[in-house]
Amino acid sequence: MTKILMVCLGNICRSPLAEGILKSKLPKEFEIDSAGTGNWHEGENPDNRSINVAKKFGIDISYQHARQIKNTDFDYYDILYVMDKNNYDNVIALCKKEAQKQKVKLILDESSNVDKTVPDPYYGSEEDFIHVFHLLDDVCTIIAKKLTHG
Ligand code: 4NP
Repeated sequence: MTKILMVCLGNICRSPLAEGILKSKLPKEFEIDSAGTGNWHEGENPDNRSINVAKKFGIDISYQHARQIKNTDFDYYDILYVMDKNNYDNVIALCKKEAQKQKVKLILDESSNVDKTVPDPYYGSEEDFIHVFHLLDDVCTIIAKKLTHG
């Protein structure tokens, strides 16, 4: 079964939402986790604003704990979805092999959106978190369909 790692910068705002949303759309056999390129929030639960927006749409992400991406992730996971171009560059820089680079994808490349950025809501408002939730919810619907219907 496909194993997916959602990656952002801090692993407390965007990628925990992406993990929770995609999990909610797929059977339990799919392994989905998230990580950050930074380690500032290692071990912390997601940002309360992400927890609250997920809860509003019926998804519990409060159990998650932030962790930093590690090199073995590139071998273990089949796809690593990143949130923006900076994030992409940071993750690619950690790759040791070409085959690892091939696994790294901008998550919104799976959508028809013109703007491929899932904006960092950390310094933003509740509305920014709601916007991020909808961006991720829409693209995760597409990803889940692709993974379950080929
Ligand atoms: P995330 O947001 O990458 O979506 O988790 C951020 C969280 C924390 C920080 C930056 C972005 N930070 O600088 O601590």
